[in-house]
Amino acid sequence: MGSKMNLKSVVIVVIAMLLISSFPVTNVCRHSSISPILIKEKTAHSYSLPPPKKVDIPLEIAIARRKSVREFNETPISDEILSTILWAAYGYINDEKRTIHGIEGYAAKIYVLKEDAVYFYDPVNHSLVFYKEGDYRRRVAQYEAPIQLGIVWNKNKSSNENYVTAEIGQIGQNIYFMANALGLGAVTTVGFTLSAIGLPSNEIPKIIMPLGYPKCPYNFTYKPMLLSNLPPVKNSTMSLSDAIYNRSETTTWKGEINEQEISQLLWAAYGFSYYIDNCITEKNKIVRHRTIPSAHAYYPLKIYAVTKDGVYRYVAGLYRYYMWNLPVLHSLVKIRRGDYRKEIADASSMPSISSAPLILISVLDIRMTKGMIGLWDDFSGEEFRWLWYYEAGASAYNVLLEATAWNLSANIAFPVDSQAILNVLLLNQNFLPLLIVPVGE
Ligand SMILES: Cc1cc2nc3c(=O)[nH]c(=O)nc-3n(C[C@H](O)[C@H](O)[C@H](O)COP(=O)(O)O)c2cc1C
Repeated sequence: MGSKMNLKSVVIVVIAMLLISSFPVTNVCRHSSISPILIKEKTAHSYSLPPPKKVDIPLEIAIARRKSVREFNETPISDEILSTILWAAYGYINDEKRTIHGIEGYAAKIYVLKEDAVYFYDPVNHSLVFYKEGDYRRRVAQYEAPIQLGIVWNKNKSSNENYVTAEIGQIGQNIYFMANALGLGAVTTVGFTLSAIGLPSNEIPKIIMPLGYPKCPYNFTYKPMLLSNLPPVKNSTMSLSDAIYNRSETTTWKGEINEQEISQLLWAAYGFSYYIDNCITEKNKIVRHRTIPSAHAYYPLKIYAVTKDGVYRYVAGLYRYYMWNLPVLHSLVKIRRGDYRKEIADASSMPSISSAPLILISVLDIRMTKGMIGLWDDFSGEEFRWLWYYEAGASAYNVLLEATAWNLSANIAFPVDSQAILNVLLLNQNFLPLLIVPVGE
């Protein structure tokens, strides 16, 4: 009986081997050093994410709750939560439209570092693609967390580091917003260490965002700005998910813009939260956060507003240095009279913005990136410019969402003649215009 079974097994194995050797070898196997067995293992690890959750928190509350979280507990993150955050960060709304504005043709990619392995997010299939086995989280992270999100610049898609980072700034905003709306937290950190996962040569690590549930739960008190010549910021009826889903962009505008709308848009661009943060820890000493993060909290941008009546500068604090930048203001200061929208439009990548009732311009004050008399790092060199484009992208994205919530439509344009823009804003060579955001009906 036993010898009969053995003979039968041998016959089956021989037939199977003959069959396998007669199958044509696919191109993949011919040209790749990866064995078919390895491919099978990788496919087994990749998996589809569940549909993202709808988050009902009003957009302004999500923006006002934005803060950097650096200490996390060990509560695991469900696939549904991860799905919602990744979709907001870089997913698709429909076949053509994505959750963020593609400044550089969507030249970013998000790696997801989990306990078991490294994956990357595939926005088309809304899935996690297996990349590498092993726990790399501690090797790359400044702050330990259940998940590390690593965002890279794909040089094959764009050679413009600054504009790609402006795109990543938008991704970062949606990670902050969705994470905090779902009770989690994150922080933007500089991501060079991501190279430890072994990136392809065309991918340059830029940002790492640890993601998890905060050790110190969110705890805010509503305390709006003391001094303001702009109407107080109101909450709209639009939820965070709806604002992301319905992001409204146009290249033609009409009509006027009112004071309340200007107030909302400037606040979203660079204002201080109307909340006081009661959760002060060793790693978070900021009592009143701003609507976007900033490397070393330098906050070196100035937001200019150009309307048919004149050129204005948004003032959101009392003094230039960060620790003395008392967050009690939400104001607009007139720089000059007259309608300069055509001059700005002609100096931009989108001449049609001359019809927009409001044009916001983020301008880098290079002096504010030097650090304080040797006490802080000097980030004023060209090689650090991308840090400030991250911030400008984050600010522009907030305006796109806020415009949507107020039934307005916006866009993102670039300076093509920076000197002409500086001339209109009465600024010298210490300043550099980064992005232009037209808004209106
Ligand atoms: C481009 C960029 C890089 C940053 N890098 C780091 C970092 O490496 N480590 C860190 O702890 N925070 C980093 N931050 C976060 C800032 O320190 C933080 O936004 C700032 O202190 C303000 O605090 P808040 O975000 O809690 O309001 C970075 C922020 C940006 C925008």
